[in-house]
Amino acid sequence: MARPKSFTCTACGAATTKWAGQCDACGAWNTIVEEKPLSAGPPSKALGARRGRAVALTDLATQEVPPPRTRSGLDELDRVLGGGLVPSSAVLVGGDPGIGKSTLLLQGAAHFARAGLKTLYVSGEEASAQVRMRAQRLSLTDAPVKLAAETNLRNILTTLEEEKPQLVVIDSIQTMWADNVESAPGSVAQVRAAAHELTSFAKCHDMSVVLVGHVTKEGQIAGPRVVEHMVDCVLYFEGERGHQFRILRSVKNRFGPADEIGVFEMTGAGLLEVTNPSALFLSERGEPAPGSVVFSGIEGTRPLLVEFQALVAPSSLSQPRRTVVGWDGGRLAMILAVLEARCGIPFAGLDVYLNVAGGMKVSEPAADLAVAAALLSAREDVALPAETVVFGEISLSGALRPVGQSENRLKEAQKLGFTKAIMPVGGKPGGTGGLELTRMGDLTAFVGEVFGAG
Ligand code: TYD
Ligand code: MG
Repeated sequence: MARPKSFTCTACGAATTKWAGQCDACGAWNTIVEEKPLSAGPPSKALGARRGRAVALTDLATQEVPPPRTRSGLDELDRVLGGGLVPSSAVLVGGDPGIGKSTLLLQGAAHFARAGLKTLYVSGEEASAQVRMRAQRLSLTDAPVKLAAETNLRNILTTLEEEKPQLVVIDSIQTMWADNVESAPGSVAQVRAAAHELTSFAKCHDMSVVLVGHVTKEGQIAGPRVVEHMVDCVLYFEGERGHQFRILRSVKNRFGPADEIGVFEMTGAGLLEVTNPSALFLSERGEPAPGSVVFSGIEGTRPLLVEFQALVAPSSLSQPRRTVVGWDGGRLAMILAVLEARCGIPFAGLDVYLNVAGGMKVSEPAADLAVAAALLSAREDVALPAETVVFGEISLSGALRPVGQSENRLKEAQKLGFTKAIMPVGGKPGGTGGLELTRMGDLTAFVGEVFGAG
């Protein structure tokens, strides 16, 4: 009897028995590919027929002290990892092509090697000479990192077995090729097999592994999502090509807080750490202008000030434009609707553009009030009072909801020379950070107070 074929969606990893033009699970088009089985023979022969070996069990309680994390000395990287690299852990670093992943990991590898870890850097994309040239440009040639240019997984595993490194960087997982899997490098089956082999090798050989992965246009790590489940820590390296800022963001971390960010600046001599990101994101700010509002946000464990810029202009289109960069388009629509329904301020017939300065992405609902302020300020052509920060969540009723960590937000604002803050009433009373506070209960009060109209 012919074995049933199996198909997988390359975007979301969903498995089906039939080919289809569109994936039922995620709705993506032309992403379903056929999967070749790992081994021939009916499944009943592979499992069940032969008895396995009983696994050794342990208690939850343990006397062992946890092995110390290794800090690279690059503080921005260490913080995103949750305070340094955990031994035998697997880390996936995703990002768009050309964003600087190889640069980041070569610098990271060099720092970990200098901190005493035996480190191996395997490049499947560049020749050794190219990596050496880059290392020279980054002044890293003195770091005791061993280099290999190889894509064959079998050869890499044998090398790892002989060399016994404590850290190996695989750049990139999409170029790795397992010769026991019958599909092209970069395919779902290959990426999954390579990631599985490398992470399980790492777990039983006291070795940490860092996998580099390319990200698709939709922002997913190309290949199956299962790779994200196999690793302990998933980091995204993001930024706008036109800006020099790069942000390393942890979206999953089994050993530390997720949503932590590290900020770097891409320079001619590689990535530099940015220790005061608020100052950097506000550095291009000029005189107070209509449509510009500074938001005091929290990224991971750190406060971060960013500037929202809005432009509202009469539209010649029957359906006016709503363009957002760095924030959620759905949330913008919600705020426009609340402004219209609760405060009677219509945006019909007006094009609306919203941008977060510096190529930063903000996902906190606490930015709602800053967005509303930027939209109103642009629409009325009135600048907000100078040196003011804004934060607060807006509910559909038009009420302002208090947000967490107000005290940290105010402290950071004061540190950067701001003197006033607009925020919701309620919440935990804390230190004001020495700022002049304007606290409001709903959006109508905010409109009246700041723009003198209801
Ligand atoms: P790279 O690390 O190769 O990106 P990825 O591995 O994510 O594809 O970095 C590519 C870009 O970084 C390239 O356009 C040049 C720039 N770059 C610098 O600006 N300065 C540097 O010191 C280096 C090494 C790269
Ligand atoms: Mg690269």
